[in-house]
Amino acid sequence: MNNEMHIAVLPGDGIGQEIIPQAVAVLEAMGKKLGLAFGFEQAVVGGCAIDQEGVPLPDETLRLAMDADAVLLGAVGGPKWEGLDYAIRPERALLGLREKLGLFANLRPAVLYPMMADASTLKREVIEGIDLMVVRELTGGIYFGQPRGVEAFEGGERGFNTLVYTTKEIERIARVAFDVARKRRKKLTSIDKANVLESTELWRRVVTQVHQDYPDVALSHMYVDNCAMQLVRNPKQFDVIVTTNMFGDILSDEAAMLTGSIGLLPSASLGSQAIAGRPECLKGMYEPIHGSAPDIAGKDMANPLATILSAAMMLKYSFGLNEASTQIETAVFKVLAQGFRTPDIAAEGTKQIGTEEMGRRVIDQIKAL
Ligand code: IPM
Ligand code: MG
Repeated sequence: MNNEMHIAVLPGDGIGQEIIPQAVAVLEAMGKKLGLAFGFEQAVVGGCAIDQEGVPLPDETLRLAMDADAVLLGAVGGPKWEGLDYAIRPERALLGLREKLGLFANLRPAVLYPMMADASTLKREVIEGIDLMVVRELTGGIYFGQPRGVEAFEGGERGFNTLVYTTKEIERIARVAFDVARKRRKKLTSIDKANVLESTELWRRVVTQVHQDYPDVALSHMYVDNCAMQLVRNPKQFDVIVTTNMFGDILSDEAAMLTGSIGLLPSASLGSQAIAGRPECLKGMYEPIHGSAPDIAGKDMANPLATILSAAMMLKYSFGLNEASTQIETAVFKVLAQGFRTPDIAAEGTKQIGTEEMGRRVIDQIKAL
């Protein structure tokens, strides 16, 4: 086993600065426990990189991310940088990393921990037992399509973006989704707007073709508007959802709220680059799906669990450490079961704690496991 695992740590902005240290501490505790050698290297990204270097994704940060086996990212953005030109906004750093690292597959699991059922705004019977995975295409579609821009038009202006998908792009994300479904309940729902958009009519056709290689997985198709509705009406019907970049962005936020808080949802972004010496492990970027939450930043209020669970995904997908990954998940489960909650998920009868204490309690559980 290659025992030096290089992790690029990019906390970013806002609560990213508070939640990332907790996830790093969890990885360190796990490393100590299992005798694994993690090497961490930190760099600036997003708004703080704009402040320090003038650009959201400095060359040095990109190089660090490209050289690492895995990237652990917090969040980027904040009101301070909102007026900037699109080309140098903090969000460009995220998109740049995804593009440059070729991370075309974004896995966003939404699982409801039983003790969290009351934190959701939906009725217990609707959400109890949900366990779904959104597989979002991440380097194509309207996020990256050309042409794009805002130009002068008829005395006013005209803003435009391009929604484009190629056979290849659809095929590779479909394969990831079928592979994921195969390891789960073998049910895949492909989301499109094929009744209106040609690009997603192609999407539906290609996903259907790829299905021939996965006869053991049940495939169905659904329009995105219907999916948005079904997610709150009867989310338990879903196992794996595969969809385009923008539909996935929207639907994954919706799926997150089914579980009570966006502060609990991790993500993995994967490409096709394997880690040297470990062909079954993919280089990836791991981040919570929530944003930088500037309103609560610096107050020890942020929920570090989505980031800690992202670190767990890293161990599984980039390092093949399934057992260690499960241990982190179990530790999180136990802390929640003991009634500890950060403010975003606090409810009557629970014990409210801050970011740091939450991290510490997860580590205590890891040590005790
Ligand atoms: C996400 C975020 C990003 C996206 C933003 C910050 C660029 O919302 O990861 O879901 O739209 O992809
Ligand atoms: Mg989003």
